[in-house]
Amino acid sequence: MRPIPRDPAPESSASLLREGYGFIRNRCQQLQAPLFQTRLLMQDTICLSGEEAARLFYDDRRFQRAGAAPRMLRKTLLGEGGVQTLDGPEHHHRKQLFMSLLGESGVAELVALARREWSSAVGRWIGDGQVQLHHEVQAILTRAVCAWAGVPLPEDEVETRRDQLATLIDGAGGIGARHWRARWARKAAEGWGIELIERVRAGTLPVAEGRALAAVAQYRNLDGSLLEPRVAAVELLNLLRPTVAVSRFVIYAALELRAHPEWHERLREDDQALESFAQEVRRLYAFFPFMAARVREDFEWQGYHFPKGTRVLLDLFGTNREPTRWPAPDIFDPQRFERWNGSAFNFITQGGGEPHRGHRCPGEPLAIALLVDALRVLTREIRYRVPEQDLGVDMARMPAQPESGLLIEAVERLTAR
Ligand code: HEM
Repeated sequence: MRPIPRDPAPESSASLLREGYGFIRNRCQQLQAPLFQTRLLMQDTICLSGEEAARLFYDDRRFQRAGAAPRMLRKTLLGEGGVQTLDGPEHHHRKQLFMSLLGESGVAELVALARREWSSAVGRWIGDGQVQLHHEVQAILTRAVCAWAGVPLPEDEVETRRDQLATLIDGAGGIGARHWRARWARKAAEGWGIELIERVRAGTLPVAEGRALAAVAQYRNLDGSLLEPRVAAVELLNLLRPTVAVSRFVIYAALELRAHPEWHERLREDDQALESFAQEVRRLYAFFPFMAARVREDFEWQGYHFPKGTRVLLDLFGTNREPTRWPAPDIFDPQRFERWNGSAFNFITQGGGEPHRGHRCPGEPLAIALLVDALRVLTREIRYRVPEQDLGVDMARMPAQPESGLLIEAVERLTAR
């Protein structure tokens, strides 16, 4: 048996906070291995990186999710009792709820709603001085996803809900005040969700059959019981929150557009280029740095022993930059997607493997479609200026974001060519 290489530090939580996204990748590079063991948040942890490691991590005979997500994430980003924390038949059954809502027609409908919101937002931006694009795109997506889900959103509530959904995401890797803000947002957002679910069930909030809110409210566990209202609220938020999170990809796309003006013209003409550009943004800006699971039963992999119960982290950020799969991995180059082999394990911003069977994100087609559509607006429908500002991205902050939220000004509508 080969010993798993060890991170020499006795406890690495402080290094994780200092190094952020690069934490696992840096150590795999130093130790020249696809894995190492360390102590994180007072627990023995095995960290894995790379395509082969991802293939292992998404083998659900080896790993389980129960007991894997740290409490700080369950109290903020995830909530308790949602699909992310389930295993086996229960997971498979709950996942069908998401897969059925996020199929081709669901995606097309939500993209159409977002397009309508983009159009009215652009109308407001014209002649309005500076706007903060991150905030604005969050509002666009909040309005669109609530309309799609059948969630009523009076105009005077838009800002509150946008803020709650955005804070859940932003607080995910935070400590101190950022963490506590996210905990408060989770409480408030779940309270909102519970009320919606209960009103739908009581028949006092009419929602068209098939809308996500109705589907979640009526979904049943394997034993035939309705989901507990709090769990149903968690699952409703599992649709609303990540849709708003697509705003981060949009902001990174706008930053890369600014850094690579040569792509502008191409994106105006070529739909395939829009898709490659969006994929390259998603590859480089995997804003969830890693995923956690626990070893189900002792096993061996490549001569290394994995003891039952050990927490294992898979490096999403570093796997997307594995140099043998992605030459010059830190360079932004959309053309690489003209040659990508489509592997389910080497580009894992939204998880790896098969979404129907495993934990891979069910919202990936939606995230891609919303991002492509946003790029279409930014390159084909409007012109804008990016004034001087701090566009720095601190890669120790998780999730990372450009400091200024990306201010834009002098927005104009382009006339169709
Ligand atoms: C904004 C871009 C997004 C990113 C970066 C992202 C990323 C991820 C990641 C890394 C996972 C975990 C994979 C794993 O557990 O191994 C995940 C799971 C999930 N995502 Fe996304 N996601 C995004 C958008 C979406 C959207 C738009 C939706 C739905 C509207 C969504 C719904 C979910 C759900 C329900 C899960 C849990 C799946 C399960 O445990 O089986 N995500 N996502």
